[in-house]
Amino acid sequence: MCGIVGFTGARSAAPILLDGLKKLEYRGYDSAGIAVMDGPAISVVKVKGRIASLCERTDGGQNVSGVTGIGHTRWATHGAPTEENAHPHLSNDGRFAVVHNGIIENYVSLREELMSEGYRFESETDTEVIVHLIEKYYRGSVREALVRTANRLQGSYALGVICTEETGRIYAVREASPLILGIGAGENYFASDVTALVPYTRNVIYLEDGEFAELSAESVRIFDCTGQEVRRKVSRVMWDVQAAEKGGYEHFMLKEIMEQPAAVKATIAPRIRNGRIEIEEIGGILSGLGDIRSIVITACGSAYYAGCAGRYALERLSGIPVRTELASELRYSDPLIDGHTLVIVISQSGETADTIAALKECRDRGARTLAVVNVVGSTVARLADSTVYTWAGPEIAVATTKGYTTQVAVLYLLAVCFADRLGRLPEGESGPVESLQALPRRIQQAIDMNPGIPALAGKYHESRALFFIGRNTDYAAALEGALKMKEISYLHAEAYAAGELKHGTIALIEEHQPVIALCCNRALMEKTLSNIVEVKSRGAEVLALTFRNNQKILSAADDLLFIPEVDPLFSAAVEIVPLQLLAYHVARENGCDIDKPKNLAKSVTVE
Ligand code: M6R
Repeated sequence: MCGIVGFTGARSAAPILLDGLKKLEYRGYDSAGIAVMDGPAISVVKVKGRIASLCERTDGGQNVSGVTGIGHTRWATHGAPTEENAHPHLSNDGRFAVVHNGIIENYVSLREELMSEGYRFESETDTEVIVHLIEKYYRGSVREALVRTANRLQGSYALGVICTEETGRIYAVREASPLILGIGAGENYFASDVTALVPYTRNVIYLEDGEFAELSAESVRIFDCTGQEVRRKVSRVMWDVQAAEKGGYEHFMLKEIMEQPAAVKATIAPRIRNGRIEIEEIGGILSGLGDIRSIVITACGSAYYAGCAGRYALERLSGIPVRTELASELRYSDPLIDGHTLVIVISQSGETADTIAALKECRDRGARTLAVVNVVGSTVARLADSTVYTWAGPEIAVATTKGYTTQVAVLYLLAVCFADRLGRLPEGESGPVESLQALPRRIQQAIDMNPGIPALAGKYHESRALFFIGRNTDYAAALEGALKMKEISYLHAEAYAAGELKHGTIALIEEHQPVIALCCNRALMEKTLSNIVEVKSRGAEVLALTFRNNQKILSAADDLLFIPEVDPLFSAAVEIVPLQLLAYHVARENGCDIDKPKNLAKSVTVE
């Protein structure tokens, strides 16, 4: 994915665009550019690399004059990360500049058509067809040219457009990619994410698919895909600027790990009333709960692993069979899903392409759909029948932490809520609700109990590979722990169900091979202990994650990570915390770019 920004007002545009791009850099960081209009002339500056290079090239925006402009930070899909492929792209006549987040699926045929008509292409991107189409359809009205252009495009796009014929105006177009307008005093903005807007305004409008906006310093007008003007309500962003700043931490990831007790509390606490779980947003789902014969959880990456972690509580407490499916697999699997299936779709960003496709596929088969989403107004939230927001606040680090734990927390809430509504919680049974209420505290304890993690990172950071093992919810947490390790430290890390070791993987165990063993379920402790003994007898170094008083594991392992004792049904949200910290410190030891790992972007809006 990429990030786009736009500004129009009376102030110098370039510094504001650069500031916005810095906030959006988590969305893509291989090249960047701005286009600023000064009277009827457009200046374009592009760089390969980070926003910092763009700031350097433009002296923080000081050497680009003009009060109207657009900007882009790129995660390359079509064409290598080069200056030529960086946005903004210009029309051949130099009158239009365009930035784009998304994918134009029919760009090959459009490119051929435009080339045969004499349009000259300067880049390998799919985006460039857009700016030439606008030039082709322009007959004195940018608005009309945009309507005609949008009609030719297939795929997803959030566009920012400026035109030398309309100084002081910026245009924004949305189709299946996020785009938010910021309403200021005497100046207006657009951006892919509210984090780029909150330093300037908290008043925002979430554009709908198929809509476009015409912004000047004094006005914001919104039109539907036929060009008819529409009214949209202005929303107020409730969190403040500091939420999207590092706040004294070296990295966003560390800050976000530390924010987990507060984020999980914000997700859980408002949904507990009089000792019961009350989730207002799912009234429709609850009234039809008796008809639900199965639950399918679908998502990608960590959100999928959150599903794996929450599945146990959901199935055990509700008594409804639950299965988890990767969204990228489910969408092509001709799934057995019908009106008696509840599909829970999980996505921090709400913009993940495979997750959206899986959601649509299930909806088309008549399933009831419930989204667990962090970003307000995102595509997944709009498409599902009901949405339960995780109130994690902005998550900037590419590797999710508080996004994941709050997703797991929502699944726990759903599990207890469904059990209650289905009459499966014995009268007066307060245990599960109390366990959920205690979760933020337990997460804080898991942070506090492990001051030795930086030293352990010093020991393990040069390992060639790390194996994570566990059973049931321990295994689910191991999957996420291993992903955290790989994505930020670039070490090979793999999670295995502990019982599977003997079926192949144990062949890889040799002298000093690190094995991280999760042992936080007393009922399965002896089983995992026997796996620890097996790998140790083949030379492995075992780092066990367990409770402080768990003597057998303490004496079997070489090194230890701790969590407080938690009901195993709800333990994954706590177990993951020391593993996040371990991954963080290993990556730090290895000098990795922790918040922006190589080849990744915060959300994957392409298939
Ligand atoms: O925004 P989403 O939750 O839909 O994103 C899903 C995955 O791309 C995401 O969780 C990814 O695996 C993270 N980078 C992991 O830290």
